[in-house]
Amino acid sequence: MDTLEAIKKRRSIRKYKDQPVEWEKIVNVVDAARFAPTSGNIQNWKLVVVKETANKKLISHACYDQKWIESADTIIVVIGQPAVGARFYSGRGEHLYTIQNATAVIENMLIAATDQGLGSCWIGAFDDDLLRRSVMLPEEDLPIGVVTVGYSDEDPDMPPRIEPQHMIFLEKFNAKRKLPMRGYYSQKMPQTMERTSKALDRAAGKIKQKFQEFKEKQANKQK
Ligand SMILES: Cc1cc2nc3c(=O)[nH]c(=O)nc-3n(C[C@H](O)[C@H](O)[C@H](O)COP(=O)(O)O)c2cc1C
Repeated sequence: MDTLEAIKKRRSIRKYKDQPVEWEKIVNVVDAARFAPTSGNIQNWKLVVVKETANKKLISHACYDQKWIESADTIIVVIGQPAVGARFYSGRGEHLYTIQNATAVIENMLIAATDQGLGSCWIGAFDDDLLRRSVMLPEEDLPIGVVTVGYSDEDPDMPPRIEPQHMIFLEKFNAKRKLPMRGYYSQKMPQTMERTSKALDRAAGKIKQKFQEFKEKQANKQK
């Protein structure tokens, strides 16, 4: 499977087969985490890989009793280390980079799972304290997400996505110049960029011409 295919094929899976996942595949999933980018390569995250039923129950309870979580072969708790982030990058490292670093890790794992024919789900709804206790997390660390992995027992449709022209803009946020983006599709991006840049050149040419005319008019008036 190529990368774009895996990105598009990934779905949140909330129903898993009672079929063990090969350790090799789980190792590939957690190994993919290590290749995620982190601010300044500080890698201030940790994972707890959970396989035992009793521990899965604790985690599902911590996730506001999302019972389906227990049906996953493996649950991975993703942890950020704000203190490490702060040491390197002060408040920005503590509050922003720590979360960005750990969430890049999560996405890598989801794609690695999809690539190997596994279902997965990112869970963000949990009670911090209960989740902390369920994996015995030290005070200074922060639970950032939970990922379930297993063989899928459902085939959900892709939930609708907002049309790209409403969320992806050229050059400036919410630019009125989103006309060329209509019908945009990722493969058409280069043509779209080219058309837009030509349209901008034409517009710039007209403005330049108008400015020239204005200057000439002013000069004639002063004569
Ligand atoms: C930050 C975050 C938190 C999420 N939390 C939950 C959750 O607690 N429970 C759940 O079932 N799905 C959760 N999801 C999965 C989303 O519901 C899902 O990604 C979204 O509906 C789009 O579906 P898709 O993943 O199949 O594209 C979460 C996703 C993200 C990114």
